[in-house]
Amino acid sequence: MVYEPREDSFLLRDKLLEQFKGKKIGVSVDIGTGSGIIALALSSFSEKIFACDIDAEAVKAAKQKLDSANAGNVNVFKSDLFKEFPGVKADLIVFNPPYLPLGEDDYYDESLHGGRKGVEVTVEFLEQAKEFLSENGVVFFVASSTADIPFLERKLKELKYRFEVIGKKHFFFEDILIYKARLS
Ligand SMILES: C[S@@+](CC[C@H](N)C(=O)[O-])C[C@H]1O[C@@H](n2cnc3c(N)ncnc32)[C@H](O)[C@@H]1O
Repeated sequence: MVYEPREDSFLLRDKLLEQFKGKKIGVSVDIGTGSGIIALALSSFSEKIFACDIDAEAVKAAKQKLDSANAGNVNVFKSDLFKEFPGVKADLIVFNPPYLPLGEDDYYDESLHGGRKGVEVTVEFLEQAKEFLSENGVVFFVASSTADIPFLERKLKELKYRFEVIGKKHFFFEDILIYKARLS
């Protein structure tokens, strides 16, 4: 299923555009591109973008969106996190992950649920991202206050990331958090 951009997508996109205003960077990566909204924003300040999604339908939708916007610097492909990635070193890696905790009675949705704690997919992403970050590379990702945030922050420290929350907005039943992290 293709994730229709919503408040979390817009908050992440706006934070990225704000943080990279007036800058030009080399390689960026958009994991879980969905409709391609984040990859499109990255294309305005990056020379080359690699965007992937685990969902074939999302890959198709993102390709269409980026083609119609003439974003020729984006390479979109199907991948489970970094599995199919070429050996790139990225200045910026972004992920708006499935971040909701999966409840006992929930029907699992790959675009929404990040595991029982809501952050298992994110933690796996953070582990893999280390290999693909350039020396001064930075990671941006989304989390929800409904997830196990203490567990996430413990893992960030264990993985040797320095991090801060650079955006926070309340929507309906949760706070959406935007994290910025670098390897220390
Ligand atoms: C919350 S949506 C975000 C979509 C889009 N980036 C946005 O901000 O609107 C999460 C996306 O991650 C994708 N996804 C989930 N698990 C993934 C994985 N292991 N590897 C790559 N993509 C994944 C889903 O298919 C979905 O498109």
